[in-house]
Amino acid sequence: MYISPSVLIRLLLVPILAVVAIQLLFVRAVSSVNMTNPYLHHKCFVTLGKYKPGSQYEKNLKRIINEFPKGSFKRGFISMTLGESPDFIVMLFQCRGDTHGPKCRSCYATAKPEFFKRCPRHKGGIIWYDQCSLYFSTIDSLGMIDYDNNFCMSNATKISDDLYNQVKPRHFIDDMIQNATREAKREAPYYMAEEKRVGKETIYGMAECSFDMSQKNCRKCLERNNFYFARCFWDKLGARVLGKSCSFRYEFYPFILPKAGPKYLKP
Ligand SMILES: *[C@@H]1O[C@H](CO)[C@@H](O)[C@H](O)[C@H]1NC(C)=O
Ligand SMILES: *[C@@H]1O[C@H](CO)[C@@H](O)[C@H](O)[C@H]1NC(C)=O
Repeated sequence: MYISPSVLIRLLLVPILAVVAIQLLFVRAVSSVNMTNPYLHHKCFVTLGKYKPGSQYEKNLKRIINEFPKGSFKRGFISMTLGESPDFIVMLFQCRGDTHGPKCRSCYATAKPEFFKRCPRHKGGIIWYDQCSLYFSTIDSLGMIDYDNNFCMSNATKISDDLYNQVKPRHFIDDMIQNATREAKREAPYYMAEEKRVGKETIYGMAECSFDMSQKNCRKCLERNNFYFARCFWDKLGARVLGKSCSFRYEFYPFILPKAGPKYLKP
């Protein structure tokens, strides 16, 4: 049995046997600006099955969720693996690029019990909050783009024609993706927050990838989701597309705390 806080990207990966199912999830946004860290969505990985009380898997799980290496919250992400098949667990916890330290810790404290409430005894699953996501699985797929766990939440209100003509959200996002992943030598994780004045309005955006993505996969993941979910958000007044490997968001109001500052500097 071992615990490895893996900051390394492992390239040798267990083939995923899961059925390749394209999943299209359009979730209506219910989030409110005033809530600081709303719950967004969750998914229990039913195909991975459940564990029994008192099992080795449960012991491993308890250990992994309670043994966070020092500095994890400060850095804003952590990945740990523990045990051997069939009790092997991989856990990934990642805070949004501008969320670190106590805010990241507090997001974990919120997400952890909520995950176990929503996916009782499931061996795997993922829960998304505004400022962090928590993921468990029995399959180590670090470094690989996750195509199965992406979804879009958009503001029900449409953008005005006038505003749309000045800023097409898809193009704004694409611009941001290129900016976030342009420089050849930048190091993961990739995070970028941008704002752009359009007439009387300002569009605010953010794009980021999970820390295990290479620059190439980061761009591929973001570009794919910008294309794939276009119908969900192309003419909307705000939206977010979330996943395990990458996410982006735009609004016509600021949603990144300017004081917090980005954890990863812009290129
Ligand atoms: C991308 O970078 C260019 C050049 O620095 C800048 O003019 C543009 O506004 C950026 N795009 C976005 C969406 O922030
Ligand atoms: C939709 O967008 C408007 C304008 O940015 C904002 O005021 C409102 O809170 C948004 N609604 C939701 C549900 O996010």
